[in-house]
Amino acid sequence: MTFTEEINRRRTFAIIAHPDAGKTTLTEKLLLFGGAIQSAGAVKSNKIKKSTTSDFMEIEKQRGISVSTSVMAFDYKGYKVNILDTPGHEDFAEDTYRTLTAVDSVIMVIDCVKGVEPQTRKLLEVCRMRKTPVIVFINKLDREGQSPFDLLDEIEKELKIKVCPLTWPIGIGKSFKGVYNLFEKTLNLFTGESKTKVEETHQISDLTTNELEKFIGEDFSKQLRADVELLNGVYDKLDKQKYLDGNISPVFFGSAVNNFGINELLDCFVEIAPHPIERDTDHGIIQPDDNKFSGFIFKIHANLDPKHRDRIAFLRICSGKFERNKYYYLVRDKKEVRFSNPTAFMAQQKSVIDEAFPGDVIGLYDAGNFKIGDTLTEGADFNYKGIPSFSPELFRYVTNLDPMKSKQLQKGLEQLTDEGVAQLFTKKIDGRKVLGTVGALQFEVIQHRLKSEYNATCSFDQINLHKALWMSCPDKKKLENFMHDRAAHIAYDKEERPVFLAESPWLLQMAQEKFPEVEFHLKSEF
Ligand code: G4P
Repeated sequence: MTFTEEINRRRTFAIIAHPDAGKTTLTEKLLLFGGAIQSAGAVKSNKIKKSTTSDFMEIEKQRGISVSTSVMAFDYKGYKVNILDTPGHEDFAEDTYRTLTAVDSVIMVIDCVKGVEPQTRKLLEVCRMRKTPVIVFINKLDREGQSPFDLLDEIEKELKIKVCPLTWPIGIGKSFKGVYNLFEKTLNLFTGESKTKVEETHQISDLTTNELEKFIGEDFSKQLRADVELLNGVYDKLDKQKYLDGNISPVFFGSAVNNFGINELLDCFVEIAPHPIERDTDHGIIQPDDNKFSGFIFKIHANLDPKHRDRIAFLRICSGKFERNKYYYLVRDKKEVRFSNPTAFMAQQKSVIDEAFPGDVIGLYDAGNFKIGDTLTEGADFNYKGIPSFSPELFRYVTNLDPMKSKQLQKGLEQLTDEGVAQLFTKKIDGRKVLGTVGALQFEVIQHRLKSEYNATCSFDQINLHKALWMSCPDKKKLENFMHDRAAHIAYDKEERPVFLAESPWLLQMAQEKFPEVEFHLKSEF
């Protein structure tokens, strides 16, 4: 196979959803239909169901599971499909955002009973920002959900995207009979009570013939004809380019737990979803078929065994061919690095690989060299863009409780924040450390890991903060004036970039009014 063929056959994507919509079930069914696993139940949910302090075991389990399901790759009809897992718990949302930087498209799962939920909204915003192509899978059609037309309306309105249904449900809940594939013009039917597999597929290119009645009876036929007529009037045919540009989302209906609608989704997905495309760096665009290797680290995972502090860094390959035992250049450190055991993840199996191609994600053993966002190249000096930090939601002061272990605490905090578990800010005025996270659970994870991996103890003390904002100003002097004026509220992030710690929306507004030239940003890239 040529290098270009290897690139063109890759489909690297993530499944995203509000918790409980069916992400884990769909992932598993895609693996099942793709022939990567033989039985259901093989993919563990990475959900943390409770978030109480006593839940360390749950957190540990989650860490174990999410390493093994971080990437699930399989071959299907000549395509190489790479599914990147995203954490199920919303406290780990930033992890999900970062994973979204490493994919070329996403499948968004929506529960037909609940419709659009808060996490769906946030995740889609990130996709829109990055212009990531999105396919929507409306799940749980075996339940009495909302009408499919209402669901499409809700998705368009709430998520501000245009949709294009490619399959259409016949009946819903107890009366759910199957789906009509508007694209292929086939009817896939459930029969019997089981509702566990497609029992019949019929080619029906002309819905007006009374052949339809034979399969679904008079009432459903009438309904389907009326629905399809309405659909043709309201929704345009799928324009693939618009989907690839992130301007329209194909929609599929089904029931993941019942294996329904999955084949249609997978077959269409591999055909229309984008192969790895060009990516932006601080030195211009890099094409995947550039013959020089490059890639970036988007996720770092600590070793489950606390006695070994090595970690796995996940590298997305963006251009060229990655080869085992070859020296590569870690741009931030200006250092040559070499990997003797790079791992790939085929289905549930981890194995050492000799080479990997753009679109692939590989695991690299790391003794603490990497930070999230690091770029690796064959010697070129550029950095991939687009792995910003977002302003945390929750903030705490870090207080060392064991003065003999301050070095360990410092090291622990450095390494854990390199992994992206939280963000560390150092206040300008007194050097106090402030930790920021997306959810309360991370503070527990950090405290627990500091103790068990670094033997350091600390407490997290209340600090009243609304947001941490990165700043820019064309006039350096004015920025300095602002930082001087608000010295007590200025801190530095780990890259030494100054941030404004705003105590309330009102104080932020005041600052904006008094210093109109200074721009405040909710993320570190602007
Ligand atoms: P998540 O990863 O998005 O959080 O969701 P997950 O797949 O774990 O699914 C959440 C629940 O929804 C599970 O039930 C799952 O079985 C159920 N589910 C998934 N797809 C369908 C579907 O098409 N129809 C129906 N009716 N249910 C579906 P659970 O009770 O939480 O777990 P379990 O005991 O079934 O594993």
